[in-house]
Amino acid sequence: MNRKRRHLLMAAAAAAVAPAWGQPAPLLRKKIPSSGEEIPVIGLGTARRYERPGPGLRETLQRFGVLGGTVLDTAPVYGQAEAVVGDLLAELKLRPRLFLATKVSISGREAGVRQIEQSFQRLRTRKIDLIAVHNLRDTQIHLATLRELRKQGRIRYVGITTSSDRQYADFEQTMRREALDFIQVDYALDNRGAGERILPLAAERGMAVMVNLPFGRGRLFDAVRGKVLPAWAAEFDCASWPQFFLKYIVSHPAVTCAVPGMARPEYAEDNLGAARGRLPDAALRRRMESFIDAI
Ligand SMILES: NC(=O)c1ccc[n+]([C@@H]2O[C@H](COP(=O)([O-])OP(=O)(O)OC[C@H]3O[C@@H](n4cnc5c(N)ncnc54)[C@H](OP(=O)(O)O)[C@@H]3O)[C@@H](O)[C@H]2O)c1
Repeated sequence: MNRKRRHLLMAAAAAAVAPAWGQPAPLLRKKIPSSGEEIPVIGLGTARRYERPGPGLRETLQRFGVLGGTVLDTAPVYGQAEAVVGDLLAELKLRPRLFLATKVSISGREAGVRQIEQSFQRLRTRKIDLIAVHNLRDTQIHLATLRELRKQGRIRYVGITTSSDRQYADFEQTMRREALDFIQVDYALDNRGAGERILPLAAERGMAVMVNLPFGRGRLFDAVRGKVLPAWAAEFDCASWPQFFLKYIVSHPAVTCAVPGMARPEYAEDNLGAARGRLPDAALRRRMESFIDAI
C-alpha cells in the first residue's frame, strides 16, 4: 500500500470512530414546511433566566453552540433578555450559526414597528430568522408589518404564539385564516391540550410548530421527584427525565422543535441529548402518557 493511500485510510478510520472519542452525534432535525429548511428539534428558551445578565448564561450559550444547538427563542418583554442574548452572541461570535426567534409584543402598528426595530438593535443583528406575534396581541396589524419585513429579506419567517388554552379557539381561527410559517404553543407530557386540534391543524396547514413550556416551567420535575426513570425509556435512548419529557414532545409528528428554558451548561448538555438517538413511537408515547397520568 502506498503512503498516500495508507494516509487516506487512516483518516477515514479516525473519522468513523470520532463519535466514540467524545464528539457528539449530530442532532435530530425536522423540516420547516414552508421552506424545507431543517432545524434541530431542541432549541433554547430565554424567558425569566435571561431577563438580566447573570452567572452561567454565557457558558450555557457557549455549550449550546458547541453541541450543535441553533434555535433560540426570546421576546422583547422578557426583561433585558434580547440585549443579554445579543451581547453574549456577539462576544461568542455565535450569531451566524443560530436560528434567532423573537416576538412582537405590544399594541398598535407604530409601536410594533418601533419594538421590532429595537429587537434588531438589542439582538445586534441585521437579520432575524423568525418574528411571531406574541399571544395574539394585535395579530392582523403586526402580521402585515412582519410580512413586509419578510419581503424585504430582514426576517425569514412569520408566526404567532400562545401559551394559554383560553386562547386556543382564537389561535385556531387565526391558523385557518392566515398563511403562517410557524406557530408556537404550549405542549408537555402533562399538558396535552394542543395535541387535540392545534397540532393536527398545523400539520394540515403546513406550519412549523415550536413548543414552549415543555417542562411546564418545572412542574414535570416536581411530578417525578424521587422517582426512577422506567427501564423501557432505554427503548428510545432516553437517559434522564428532561430527555423523557422532551422526546415525548418532539416525537409528535407535527412538532418541529421545543425550546426548553435553560440557563445552566449541564442543562444544555442534558436537553440536547433529547435530540439524539431514537424517539418513542406511537405505542411508547401512549405508555409515557399513562405513566404520567398515573402519578
Ligand atoms: N406565549 C409565549 O410565546 C411563551 C410563553 C411561555 C414560554 N415561551 C418560551 O418557551 C420557553 C420555555 O418556557 P420556560 O422556560 O418558561 O419553561 P420550561 O422550558 O417548561 O421550563 C424551564 C425550567 O426547567 C428547568 N430545567 C430546564 N432544563 C432542565 C434540566 N435539564 N434539568 C433540570 N431542570 C431543567 C429550569 O428550572 P430552573 O431554572 O429553576 O433550574 C428551567 O428554568 C421560554 O423560555 C420562552 O422562550 C413562550
